[in-house]
This record gives sequence, structure tokens and C-alpha cells, in this order.
Amino acid sequence: MSEATLGGRFTFPGTSLTVQRIGYGAMQLAGPGVWGPPADPDAAVAVLREAVAAGVNHIDTSDYYGPHVTNQIIRQALHPYPAGLVIVTKLGARRPPDKSWQPAVSAQDLIAGVEDNLRNLGLDALDIVNYRVMGSGHGPEEGSIAEQVTVLADLRRKGLIRNVGLSNVTAAQVAEAQTIVDVVCVQNNYNLAYRHDDALIDDLARQGIAYVPFFPLGGFTPLQSATLSTVAAGLGATPMQVALAWLLHRSPNVLLIPGTSSLAHLRENLAVGKLTLSPKTLAELDTIAPADAPVNAAH
Ligand SMILES: NC(=O)c1ccc[n+]([C@@H]2O[C@H](COP(=O)([O-])OP(=O)(O)OC[C@H]3O[C@@H](n4cnc5c(N)ncnc54)[C@H](OP(=O)(O)O)[C@@H]3O)[C@@H](O)[C@H]2O)c1
Repeated sequence: MSEATLGGRFTFPGTSLTVQRIGYGAMQLAGPGVWGPPADPDAAVAVLREAVAAGVNHIDTSDYYGPHVTNQIIRQALHPYPAGLVIVTKLGARRPPDKSWQPAVSAQDLIAGVEDNLRNLGLDALDIVNYRVMGSGHGPEEGSIAEQVTVLADLRRKGLIRNVGLSNVTAAQVAEAQTIVDVVCVQNNYNLAYRHDDALIDDLARQGIAYVPFFPLGGFTPLQSATLSTVAAGLGATPMQVALAWLLHRSPNVLLIPGTSSLAHLRENLAVGKLTLSPKTLAELDTIAPADAPVNAAH
């Protein structure tokens, strides 16, 4: 597969890290509920190897997926890592034995999280680490993140982290973090039916900062829309492919990390770069987001 078919390339600002815009999210590689090993570990390894063989060089992960399991599978599948592979991980949560997701935000928690990622991925330094704000589970919430970002900035100075990103944050939190350290990417919940970040995407695009939507296909509640299905049928594509293509068209700073444990779905997702959506199709897809969400039709 040529580079062009993976959505073109993007360079994280102020870095030499250049990735294909179609990447891969590894969360689905752990067991059910993002806990424990997958039913078929060999299949998980095969998905990762095929993604990288197809040209994917941006993998999103966290050591709290599994916990530890997802990173260990990435290491098993891909270590020693090919030159140019950018593994982006995140800190800010822990998984107690009840399988819940709890905040882990003290300096000690964050340092331990970096050490866990380095050990389980088999790395000396992490290319990009997102500080993931936990909040109440209903999207980003305002509140200072200066303390945690300062810890990440210190770890960057020590060379354990090369670059800092943010996840589940508001525009004000991005601005606050930028007073402490350069921010290279923001990873928030966004897809063609959930567009609360339209203004933030455009602002980050002006700054050259990557916007990496999590749940690009709806996550645990896959996208369902009659309009999407009709458009997809007309294009001879699947609804999920059109949802990903729409994100690629949304803004050049949007990077894809769709998650899948299936080789068939991986292949569908990697083929999305070949899908061109006309202005008329984009306008139809723009009607999917609920009316109360801000919609910016400028793709
Ligand atoms: N920062 C954060 O807080 C945060 C939160 C959630 C996720 N993430 C990251 O974002 C990545 C993407 O999110 P996600 O994996 O939760 O959700 P997603 O990409 O929106 O959707 C994944 C779901 O869609 C299915 N799927 C994937 N490709 C498909 C296709 N072509 N056709 C039909 N179904 C398909 C997957 O099932 P199959 O396995 O059966 O394909 C899985 O159930 C994660 O892997 C993770 O790295 C970050």
C-alpha cells in the first residue's frame, strides 16, 4: 500500500515525528472490558503486524489497557520497532481489580505510569505521552491540569518523554498546558455524530497541532445513522469507512486511530484513504450531528 492511500502524512509540531494520517488504536487488543488478555493473542499480534506492514506508523496505546496487556502485545508483535514507528501512550488512570477506571494523577502515579510504559513497551524513552484527564465520564471538565503537565514537562527534560500531548481536555486546559510545555497533539472524543470539538479542531489546525479523535467509530456504541448507511451504500463503502473518510476530510490535522481486533476491519479501515467524499456528500454527512452540537461545515 502506498503512503498516499494512508491519508497522507502529518508531522507533529516542533518534532521530526512524521506519521501517516491513518494510524491504529490498540485498545481493542486487550480482553473484554479492556481487561486481561484477548481470547486470541495470535490474532492480536497478526493485526499489529499487518498494520505496520501496510505502512501504519502511528499506534495509540496505554499501559492501563489490560492493564499492561496491550503494551506487552505491541512489544511481542513489533519489537525491535521499525524506524519511524511512533507509539503514543497516555497517563492519568489506573485499573484496580474491580476493572474500573480511576484517576492516577499524583507525581508518583505519573512517574510510575511512565516506568510501566517503558518496561512493557521495551523502550528507553516514549515519543509522545498524553496526559488523559479523567473527569466524570461525561466529557472534558474545566479545572487546572498544571500540576500534572508540570510533572510531564519534568520527565521530558529528563529524557524519558520526548513530547507531550493531552486527552479529554477543554480549550482552556490546552491553553494552560501550553504555558508549561509545547503540546503536540490533543486526543478527545469526536466523530461525525459527536462534534463538540469543532472549534477546538480548527484552533489546533491553525497551530499545527494534531487532533486525534478517540471513538472515531463511536467506540463502545458504534455509530448508527440512516444517512450514513445511505451515503455508504451509494459509494460502495461501509458506513464505518465513510465515518473515517469524513474525519480525514474534516481537517488536515486530524489523525485516525480506529481500534479493531479484526484483520478484516483493519483492512477496511486502512482502505479509507482511497475514499474521496464530494462536497455534496460532505454536506449530507454534516446533517448527522444533533442540532445542539456546533457544526462547522468547513472541511
Ligand atoms: N484518550 C482516551 O480517553 C481514549 C478513549 C478511548 C479510546 N482511545 C483510543 O482510541 C482508539 C479508538 O477508539 P476505540 O477503539 O475505543 O473505538 P472506535 O475506533 O470508535 O471503535 C472501535 C469499535 O469499532 C469496531 N470496528 C473497528 N473497525 C470496524 C469496521 N471497519 N467495521 C465495523 N466495526 C469496526 C471494533 O470492533 P472489532 O474489534 O470487532 O473490529 C470496536 O468495537 C482506541 O483503540 C484507543 O487507542 C482513547
